[in-house]
Amino acid sequence: MAFGDYQIELYLGALGGVLPAHPFGYAELESAAMAVLPPELRTYVAGGSGDEATQRANVEAFGRYAVVPRMLRASAERDLSVEVFGRTLSSPLMMAPVGVLGICSPDQHGDVHAAEASAATGVPLIGSTLMSDPLEDVVAATGDTPAWFQLYTPKNRDLAASLVRRAEQAGYEAIVITLDTWVPGWRPRDLASGNFPQLRAKCLANYTSDPVFQEMTGPDPDPGTVVMTWVGTFGHPVTWEDLPWLRSLTDLPILVKGICHPDDARRALDEGVDGIYCSNHGGRQANGGGSALDWLPDVVAAVDHRAPVVFDSGVRSGADVVKALAVGADLVALGRPYAFALALGGVPGLTHLLRSFQAETDLIMAVDGYPTRADLGPDAIRRTDR
Ligand SMILES: Cc1cc2nc3c(=O)[nH]c(=O)nc-3n(C[C@H](O)[C@H](O)[C@H](O)COP(=O)(O)O)c2cc1C
Repeated sequence: MAFGDYQIELYLGALGGVLPAHPFGYAELESAAMAVLPPELRTYVAGGSGDEATQRANVEAFGRYAVVPRMLRASAERDLSVEVFGRTLSSPLMMAPVGVLGICSPDQHGDVHAAEASAATGVPLIGSTLMSDPLEDVVAATGDTPAWFQLYTPKNRDLAASLVRRAEQAGYEAIVITLDTWVPGWRPRDLASGNFPQLRAKCLANYTSDPVFQEMTGPDPDPGTVVMTWVGTFGHPVTWEDLPWLRSLTDLPILVKGICHPDDARRALDEGVDGIYCSNHGGRQANGGGSALDWLPDVVAAVDHRAPVVFDSGVRSGADVVKALAVGADLVALGRPYAFALALGGVPGLTHLLRSFQAETDLIMAVDGYPTRADLGPDAIRRTDR
C-alpha cells in the first residue's frame, strides 16, 4: 500500500460517518495541544531561546524553497525507502529525541507510547536520555522498527559508558550524541515560569535505573538527592578530545547531533563518527543563529555521501520533508509536531500524525513527478528568494 492511500482510508471513513478525530495542520495541532498540556509543559515544549527568532527562522526557511513540478513522469508506484546502517526504512522520517515525551502523556508513559506509534508506522524513534521510563522498556515497545538512543554525555564517564552499554544491550541500533546541550540555552518563557521538568525530578528514569547513578546517589535517595546528583553530572562540555573516548564506548554507529558547519561535519567523519545530524535543536539552545535549513546544503556537501545526514528543526509538513530531502538530507526528523500529537491524541493521535506526514510526502512526490528518493535531488527545488 502506498503511504498516500491513507487519504482513501480517511475519505472512506467519512463516507461511513466517521470524521477524522485528529488535526491535520500544524497550527491547529499546536493550539489544540496547548489547551490540554499542563501549564508547566506548555512553555517547555513550545518555547525556545531568546526572543525565539531562530525558532521562527527554522520554519520560515522552508518558505524560501519551492518544489518544481515535473509532468509526464507519473508513477502509481512510489518508493520512499531509505537504507541506513544496514536497515531499510520504509520512509525517510524519524522522531527526534524529545526529553519530556514521557510527561506529555497524561499517564506519564509517553516514551513507551511513542515507541508503540513507531512500531505501528515504521517511523524510528530516537529515544532521549531524558525518559520517564527506562530505555529498556521503551525499546521493547518498538516492534520491528529500529530505534536509536540519544546520549546527553554526563560528566561521570562511567555513567556515560553504562548508558551506552545499556542502550546497546537493549537493542538500540545507533547512538546519537547531542553536542549543543551540555548547558541549557537561555529560555525566557521557562525562566519566567520557573519551568525545568528535570529539576522537579521528572524524566530521570534512565538515571535512577542506572547502576552507576545509583552508586552516586546511594541507596533509596530522596527526590532532592536524585535531582542534585543529576544536576552535578548532567552536562559534560564535549570537545573533539572526547570523541575517541565516546567512539570507544560502543561498536554501534555513532551520530553527532547539532552539526551546522561543514568543517565540523568533515572532521567528525574523519574522527570515526558514522552519521551527521544537522540541527539547531529547534532554536531552543542558541538564539541569533540562522535556520538549520540554511546550514544543511554546506553540511551535505561536506559529508559528500560518506555517511547518512539526518536533519531536523522546523519541519512542519510533508512539503517540508520533500524540501529537506531535495536539499540533501537522508532522513528528516520531527520534533515539536509529534510531541504535540502525542499530548493531544495519545498513540492514535501520534500514529495519525506520522501517517499524515508519510502520506503528504508520498503524494507530493507522486504529483510532482519524483517517484523515488533518488529522483529528489537539487534539481527538484529552487530558492525562490534569489
Ligand atoms: C520539548 C523538547 C525537548 C527536547 N529534548 C531533546 C533531547 O532530550 N535531546 C535532544 O537531542 N534534543 C531534544 N530536543 C530537540 C529535538 O530533538 C529537535 O532537535 C527539535 O525539536 C527540532 O525542532 P522542531 O521541533 O522545532 O522541529 C527537544 C525538543 C523539544 C521541543
